[in-house]
Amino acid sequence: DGPRRIQQTSLVDLNTRAMHYYREQLKASPRAIDYLKRRGLSGQIAARFGLGYAPDNWHPLAECFSDYATNAQLNEVGLVIDHADSGRRYDRFRDRVVFPIMDGKSQVIGFGGRIIDQGEPKYLNSPETPLFQKGLELYGLPQARQAIRASNRVLVVEGYMDVVALAQLGVEYSVATLGTACTPEHVKKLMRLADQVVFSFDGDKAGRRAAWRALENSLALANDGKTLSFLFLPQEHDPDSYIREFGKDAFETLIEREALGLVAFMCRELASQVDLDSDEGKAKLMHLAKPLVEQIKAPALGILLRKKLAEMAGMDGGEAAQLLG
Ligand code: CTP
Ligand code: MN
Ligand code: MN
Ligand code: MN
Ligand code: MN
Repeated sequence: DGPRRIQQTSLVDLNTRAMHYYREQLKASPRAIDYLKRRGLSGQIAARFGLGYAPDNWHPLAECFSDYATNAQLNEVGLVIDHADSGRRYDRFRDRVVFPIMDGKSQVIGFGGRIIDQGEPKYLNSPETPLFQKGLELYGLPQARQAIRASNRVLVVEGYMDVVALAQLGVEYSVATLGTACTPEHVKKLMRLADQVVFSFDGDKAGRRAAWRALENSLALANDGKTLSFLFLPQEHDPDSYIREFGKDAFETLIEREALGLVAFMCRELASQVDLDSDEGKAKLMHLAKPLVEQIKAPALGILLRKKLAEMAGMDGGEAAQLLG
């Protein structure tokens, strides 16, 4: 009966058991608990997101899961690393705070693990597995779904910690892309969730690049009935650090006042790349804008964008239409 039982353990079951195991380990690790407290998180919010701790030990999962999972299964789901050459086999997550990643149906499909305090790599994630494709999933979706529906707004951030800290301070409608750029599949999912999609990446260079990628991947999907906007945080902040320093009201005021719509963000970014005081700069503006404008299918947004570009380039509508199509 033993081997049959092992075969029936699905990868989701395995991840769910691992989540419970890591939860138990957290209770026994004052160091990990202290780390989460120092980051402003309560036991309640840690429980809501299923946060856990992977102990500082090489084989705990392989050992305590030996009754219901084979090593091959643990390897397939990414919990155990198997070095075919050396024959060495050990747990992927060791001495890290662990964030279970759930799909829209609350099934545990993978994990992210953060080192406690300093060290490299800061985050370690489950590999792509049959269950887990990073370009499709949104971290925190099951926990955020109700608030997204109630506010008709979804906030998209970069990190696990951003989602959890925002929820801790009462902004419950956020989800994160998982250390990858926001893909067209992400954008499609986001637009099905709410009428207002607000991207808020980190204020650093990587975050600004990620915002532009999100814009590029949104152009063809933008729709006149929806709002896509982009919130730029001060250089040294991410949503976690900002809301912890300034609070929920300040963060939500920032969304209301500072988030740039798709047209405004695109125009500002392109303007920063050219010299609008020269004819050459104006020509380059239209040159850079053309391939982007061509992707927009939303009729009204398309018209408004063309109009704004025409103004920036000092052209009339007809001339701009000739250039931009
Ligand atoms: N990330 C990753 N691997 C890394 C660094 C980052 O997968 N080595 C992903 C994680 O999902 C992380 C996100 O990218 O949450 C954002 O990275 P970063 O801004 O560097 O981390 P924070 O979430 O701000 O981490 P923290 O606040 O814990 O320092
Ligand atoms: Mn051991
Ligand atoms: Mn960052
Ligand atoms: Mn960050
Ligand atoms: Mn951070």
